Amino acid sequence: MRKLPFASSTECPPDACMTRRQILGALAGLTAAACSSTTVAHVESDGGGSASDAGAEEGGTACAVTPAGTNEGTVASYPLGTWKKKNSYIIAQDAMGFFAFSAICTHSGCLVNAPIADGSTFCACHGSKFDGNGAVLQGPAQTPLPHYAVTVCGGAVYVDENTGVSATARTPAG
Ligand code: FES
Repeated sequence: MRKLPFASSTECPPDACMTRRQILGALAGLTAAACSSTTVAHVESDGGGSASDAGAEEGGTACAVTPAGTNEGTVASYPLGTWKKKNSYIIAQDAMGFFAFSAICTHSGCLVNAPIADGSTFCACHGSKFDGNGAVLQGPAQTPLPHYAVTVCGGAVYVDENTGVSATARTPAG
């Protein structure tokens, strides 16, 4: 049988020996360290959890149910102070939250151009202009672009063209 070095107190140099109490203390420390690692690993695992959990980190609460309308992408794809034309509407985010309004000109139904930096849009058919909230800046259109319901959950922005809302309605980012 192989003899371990420093197995007895007689073979252990005084400055390299550990008492029984020191050994037990060291083992307790190792156990505590192992438990901490387990806890950290568990937290990290939770952080990379389900898609809805990730969404909650990116854009507020997870979706309890799938919202009405169309998923138009992540909250992050609509930075504050920007307007994007998507399908037949325009999605934007201002200081109060997200909103969406029709991109179909109220004069005769042409699609307006993509918004410029200030959010205003132009209809090339007959020259109408609308501001960044859909109000008429210049005719011949006489009626503002109607707003649609927006839902933000699970880190995504949903627009429901079938539900009209006030032009002042905003949906917080989360
Ligand atoms: S359809 Fe837009 S200005 Fe006439």
